[in-house]
Amino acid sequence: MNPAPSKKLSGLPPYLFVKLAALRRQAEAAGLSVIDLGQGSPDLPSPRHVVEALRSSALEPWTHRYPPSSGLPDLRRTVAAWYGRRFGVKLDADKEVVPLIGSKEGIAHLLMALLDPGQGVLVPNPCYPVHYNGPILAGGKVHLMPLKEENKFLPDLSRVPAAKARASKVLILNYPNNPTGAVIEGTDFLKEALAFSKCYGCLIAYDNAYSELTFDGYEAPSILQLPGAKARAVEFHSFSKTYSMAGWRIGFAVGNAAALAQLSKFKGFLDYGIPAFVQKAAIAALDGPQDCVAESRRIYQSRRDALVRALAEAGWDVPPCRAGMYLWGKIPAKAAKKGSLAFVTRLILEYGVVISPGVGFGPFGEGYARFSLIAPEDKLREAARRIGRFLAKF
Ligand SMILES: Cc1ncc(COP(=O)(O)O)c(C=O)c1O
Repeated sequence: MNPAPSKKLSGLPPYLFVKLAALRRQAEAAGLSVIDLGQGSPDLPSPRHVVEALRSSALEPWTHRYPPSSGLPDLRRTVAAWYGRRFGVKLDADKEVVPLIGSKEGIAHLLMALLDPGQGVLVPNPCYPVHYNGPILAGGKVHLMPLKEENKFLPDLSRVPAAKARASKVLILNYPNNPTGAVIEGTDFLKEALAFSKCYGCLIAYDNAYSELTFDGYEAPSILQLPGAKARAVEFHSFSKTYSMAGWRIGFAVGNAAALAQLSKFKGFLDYGIPAFVQKAAIAALDGPQDCVAESRRIYQSRRDALVRALAEAGWDVPPCRAGMYLWGKIPAKAAKKGSLAFVTRLILEYGVVISPGVGFGPFGEGYARFSLIAPEDKLREAARRIGRFLAKF
């Protein structure tokens, strides 16, 4: 038996990071010592006090049972309190907070909960893959909004055709942005997005997974800080990057109560939520000392500086990011002729350096590559030296 995939599934390319992992294995099998700056999976350990909270919670038998699918009330209250402290936004813990098995799960399932077949979604591009794949798997129709360097990697909403805007039920936005590293300055763009949402009646799904990993004194806003935003937006957060808990699978969505009620209802049919001992540990993360977050910021910022410097010495000028955990660089013209995937494939197989090809984040990522800051500085410098040797070949 060889069942054919659904049309929705066969319409999607293999997941980028699965492809990069296969190339990595090939390089290792050929004897290369690989430096992997591909996927954004933090290499820093989760905070000690959070691991301790997991350990003690896991010893309590009640945490072994099915958790309530809407999350532990205690976690929802803790999220609401953290949000109030961090953004000055008051949330109703019962109606405006939904714990998630990671924000990736929540984004994909929100789209499945809201979309009918053929309904539109406005998706920035390049983008974190689930922003594109999620709408496709939900049966939706994607309209890509290019993120261009000359527009500071913000979508030009005025260029979205009115018919596409009217046909779209959801507008996806993500700042601090993956993969470009772009951030929101001031409130003009968010105000414009809210006005657009009001004009065309689309919900804003605002992915704020990197809100806490910011550098040089920059502070990322929440879209919910703008007046009237709760009526129009849902915002996604993650423990994966803030607390280096990517493997724990926990995040949360906040904001528009009606959209979140649909997400919760949908999830109730599919999953039982996050294991209770992980939820208890997440409470310890939000409620506990935050110096671990400051330390992660310091480490990523210092890695950023080290890699920007080393790449410049290797002949590749890449701008420093002000948030997130990625550098996004235009591949030097002489090396970009065959496209970013061909460039990255050779870099992995011949030099053992894994980075992500820009085209893996969509057609408007072509010509770029993304570096994840997930290795110590000496490894980053070694990766840049190897890249320099590769570039010298062109
Ligand atoms: C922009 C963005 N959103 C969401 C996620 C997924 O986060 P989580 O681990 O919470 O599912 C990522 C992961 O890299 C991301 O880059």
